[in-house]
Amino acid sequence: MSRRSAYVCQSCGATYAKWAGRCDNCGGWNTIAEEPERPAGPRPAARGRRITLTGLESREAPPPRIASGIDELDRVLGGGLVAASAVLVGGDPGIGKSTLLLQAAAAHAAAGQGVVYVTGEESAAQVRLRASRLGLQGAPLQLAAATDLSDIIATLEAERPAVAVLDSIQTLWASHVESAPGSVAQVRAVSHELVSFAKRRGTAVILVGHVTKEGQIAGPRVVEHMVDTVLYFEGERGHQFRILRSVKNRFGPAGEIGVFEMTGGGLREVANPSALFLSERDEPASGSVVFAGVEGTRPLLVEIQALVAPSPLGTPRRTVVGWDSGRLATILAVLEARLGIGFVGRDVYLNVAGGLRVSEPAADLAVAAALISARQDIALAHDAVFFGEVSLSGALRPVAQADARLKEAEKLGFRAAWTPAGGAAAQQAANGGRSIGLLPVAHLAEFVEKAFGALPE
Ligand code: TYD
Ligand code: MG
Repeated sequence: MSRRSAYVCQSCGATYAKWAGRCDNCGGWNTIAEEPERPAGPRPAARGRRITLTGLESREAPPPRIASGIDELDRVLGGGLVAASAVLVGGDPGIGKSTLLLQAAAAHAAAGQGVVYVTGEESAAQVRLRASRLGLQGAPLQLAAATDLSDIIATLEAERPAVAVLDSIQTLWASHVESAPGSVAQVRAVSHELVSFAKRRGTAVILVGHVTKEGQIAGPRVVEHMVDTVLYFEGERGHQFRILRSVKNRFGPAGEIGVFEMTGGGLREVANPSALFLSERDEPASGSVVFAGVEGTRPLLVEIQALVAPSPLGTPRRTVVGWDSGRLATILAVLEARLGIGFVGRDVYLNVAGGLRVSEPAADLAVAAALISARQDIALAHDAVFFGEVSLSGALRPVAQADARLKEAEKLGFRAAWTPAGGAAAQQAANGGRSIGLLPVAHLAEFVEKAFGALPE
């Protein structure tokens, strides 16, 4: 059989017959590289065997969990690692993945589980140095610096650890695949072998993956499909907060978050993130509003800051950190078209404080309030929280978990909550006996009248 090449996009995994400068599938430039084509799989047998079919009734016990004791991590995993499963931890370089996993590995080892930690990025000496900085040098985990997959698999087969950490998939290589480490073909082959090892031997395998600028695990998306759980470790550089978020979990809820703080002595768990996210809040200022959000099962109060300034540019600036820029455009359009509050000729900056990324539509009302407050240069009451979804008509729609949001706001000493009027009766009932007062509004226009006195010019 003659050897043939395929041209594979290193960003999304799309395959082409010939090279091109731009990937039609993901739009990436210079992402397409030549790779030897994989040999076609075995031809399907002419006649198959009959498969045994079963019902849905479960005879198996739920999969055993191995908790690390790091609560923020265990909760994101749905209660701890699951034996014979594969977890992918993605995140930007330098965000703290290796630190988190070294701490987790040490915790598992200290609890008496067999742990193998393979680093392909650093030397063993570097990892030891980090361990002593973190005060973990006494943890009985097994460390190796290696990149050759067959050596790693042979070692894991001999050790049969309960937990194996591989940092990172982009540095490992399988000798039977001809392309360079980090290429789609390598990452795919390496992940596939490690996932099969996990299933075969009951080990919980944790793969570390770097993320590209576009926010995808570098190499193929395919890895996300292969593993059971995908966690992203995120945060803004220059902020000490780090969020661990489950984006896929076959053994627990997706969307759950864990909050950490990066300190000189490693990652510290943040059990009460709202207090931390609000601790940087200054005096009452225009454009500053507290959003009562929910991430996964956790209520989380965050400050949303807006700045509106006259623009010297023909096309004014719209800069967003921590929120969706398309959603900002929508809210600006609703304010303009339904309330006559225009932003033409003004730059708009929107910022979720603390480096958190908010994706809930429930933040709409808080964002609208921050924008109006910034534009009018009128500070809103310091002791109120906001939540509610804004529809294109400007009407406010109720959002899920209002009760949890109100409870959290009350716990942190807030005295009032601007909420959608729909579902107000239910909220009122849920709020019975609480000290926080409800300010239900049905439409953004009603909100502006009540909060600012009158519709602005
Ligand atoms: P690292 O875990 O190496 O990131 P990743 O594996 O995601 O690339 O973290 C590196 C950063 O974390 C580095 O900028 C230094 C910082 N850091 C601390 O602030 N405190 C610590 O105790 C450690 C170990 C790292
Ligand atoms: Mg690292």
